[in-house]
Amino acid sequence: MNILAEIRSRFEPVLTEWTDDPSSVIEMLKASQDAKFGDYQANFAMPLAARIPDLKPRDLATQIVEKVDLSDFCEPLEVAGPGFINIKLKQEWLNTQTQNLVADERLGVVPAESPQKVVVDFSAPNVAKPMHVGHLRSTVIGDANYRVLKFLGHDVVGDNHIGDWGTQFGMIIFGYKHFLNEAAFEEAPVTELARLYRLVNQLSDYHATKKTLPQRENDIEQLEAKLKTLESSADQTDKKIQKQEKKLKSDIAERKSDVRSMQEKLTELEQNEDLHSKAVAFPDIARQARDETANLHAGDAENLALWNQFLPACLEAIQNVYDRLDIHFDMALGESYYHPMLADVVESLKQKGLAKESQGAICVFIDGFKAPFIVQKQDGAFTYATTDLATIKYRAEELKADRVLYVVDSRQSEHFQLLFATVNEWGFQNLELQHVSFGSVLGKDGKPLKTRAGDNVGLESLLDESIQRAYAIIAENDDAKPEGSELSEERRQEIAEIIGLGGIKYADLKHNRDSDYMFDWDKMLANRGDTATYMQYAYARVCGIFRKGEIDRVTLRENQSALKLQDETERALALQINRYSETLESVAIEARPNYLTNYLFELSNLFSTFYNQCPVLKAEEEQVKSSRLLLCDLTARVIDHGLSLLGIRTCERM
Ligand code: ARG
Repeated sequence: MNILAEIRSRFEPVLTEWTDDPSSVIEMLKASQDAKFGDYQANFAMPLAARIPDLKPRDLATQIVEKVDLSDFCEPLEVAGPGFINIKLKQEWLNTQTQNLVADERLGVVPAESPQKVVVDFSAPNVAKPMHVGHLRSTVIGDANYRVLKFLGHDVVGDNHIGDWGTQFGMIIFGYKHFLNEAAFEEAPVTELARLYRLVNQLSDYHATKKTLPQRENDIEQLEAKLKTLESSADQTDKKIQKQEKKLKSDIAERKSDVRSMQEKLTELEQNEDLHSKAVAFPDIARQARDETANLHAGDAENLALWNQFLPACLEAIQNVYDRLDIHFDMALGESYYHPMLADVVESLKQKGLAKESQGAICVFIDGFKAPFIVQKQDGAFTYATTDLATIKYRAEELKADRVLYVVDSRQSEHFQLLFATVNEWGFQNLELQHVSFGSVLGKDGKPLKTRAGDNVGLESLLDESIQRAYAIIAENDDAKPEGSELSEERRQEIAEIIGLGGIKYADLKHNRDSDYMFDWDKMLANRGDTATYMQYAYARVCGIFRKGEIDRVTLRENQSALKLQDETERALALQINRYSETLESVAIEARPNYLTNYLFELSNLFSTFYNQCPVLKAEEEQVKSSRLLLCDLTARVIDHGLSLLGIRTCERM
């Protein structure tokens, strides 16, 4: 049962006496931070009373409490301080609820009352280049949301909206036509394609840098001239002028350092004879690569054949990563699928008077936005925006979706705001669209995580490293165990996979997704603190208790022995177990898996407190022992299930 929702639903009708919109304040009723204020606490008397003359919050709280009936499962409500309402569940009731969970496969989680058709658009790498750390967040956050929604009974479609039609294909087609190493392609096509991509990128970057360098140098000269004038003429004691000078000096320094690294980049390429001769041979490579993309889009037979040849290899390479991460999709049509629909989309937008020509491009102008939404460029090419519009139409009409989650990095928020605003005017008003945005993965220097050479960190190598590090930790722990109880080599490997992959996923999921986070191996794989390992250990510990007591967990459940919450730590643990339902629901509403990680962390902490306080196998009475064993079993089930919804596995022995 969702206890929080039940309590809120009792308050809401009562609140209508003081507000037209109880839903606007009902979220101020939540789990209380401190057990001495009860299990749940409501703070809405304060804002509600503020709107009513001559009403003290405390008096309002008293009036509310008189009208709300929770007597079937709560102690009499208490008003505290300036007007807090404290809610405490009845011990008997909590006891029965917990007992009921023993036989409940869903661990008290009620399926959604009105299930929705939800499309989760996640991962979506631009293929033709290997997956890198930048793809981790969308993949992991998307997958966790997918699993939670599905468990709650929604009809969920995981859609990998692969970038299989973008400019990167023009680049590799160009590279293939001019720089191919046939033997390498035969041997490992994806590696060779990735090399071609990097090569073409590097060459076009070279020319672009060469072109902008004089401008940059010129900028610096101008700034220096400005500084000189300021220094020679103005009053040097004036604070404002000092500030201006300081700002100019730092601007100049920054630009000089930019120019220096541009120069270094140019020199580096020029010193490489092979690269330099290629650069000289193709001064217009960026345009040529763009032309290859345009030709592909226009249906050029040769380019289309190449694209058809490249794509399966690219998809196979990303599939490898998904297999390792245990990530599954229901569909992956990719951007290319929507290409034939794009002209109609633009036509329809024009007909509705939404899209207009502006400087040769076709744009949608939306009030309140600085930039227009460009749906067709001057050269006739359709855009990322057009594809997303076509995809929405498909999801609404063909998939009959009610809700779409776009798990995409926060740098695209402007795009999604424009997209949603456009769709709202275009039609499909019943479709709920949500940008599940997230920040970047940073290195220890606080900048986006890169390799030492400045490249993106490959996702495969990241997974490998995590497993290796986990293995080292396991081996060290294991070597310290008494002779004979060590793990077999095979088990070590298996556990290293579970801990290594779980650690990476968990570290990504536990942060508020809007913020950036710093990638830190040591914190991530620590067996204490807010890590997957900590919870995996808690799970293994429970399994250990049952092993030691030679008790079968399933038999224990079937025995129907009575569960009795006596100690405070037992009650706190049971309460947390009963909050699983409300936690998952809050994850589903806001698409925030960190609510679940927080919950599991708290659960593991409460378990640890309980376990330190209450002997289980050594409990004096048989009845107390079986009751505590039931609590241990429930805890382990929730940890295991909760982690599985995050895509993280557990093991019985670590
Ligand atoms: N391929 C895109 C990128 O790498 C992400 C696509 C996200 N989904 C979408 N429907 N726009 O930036």
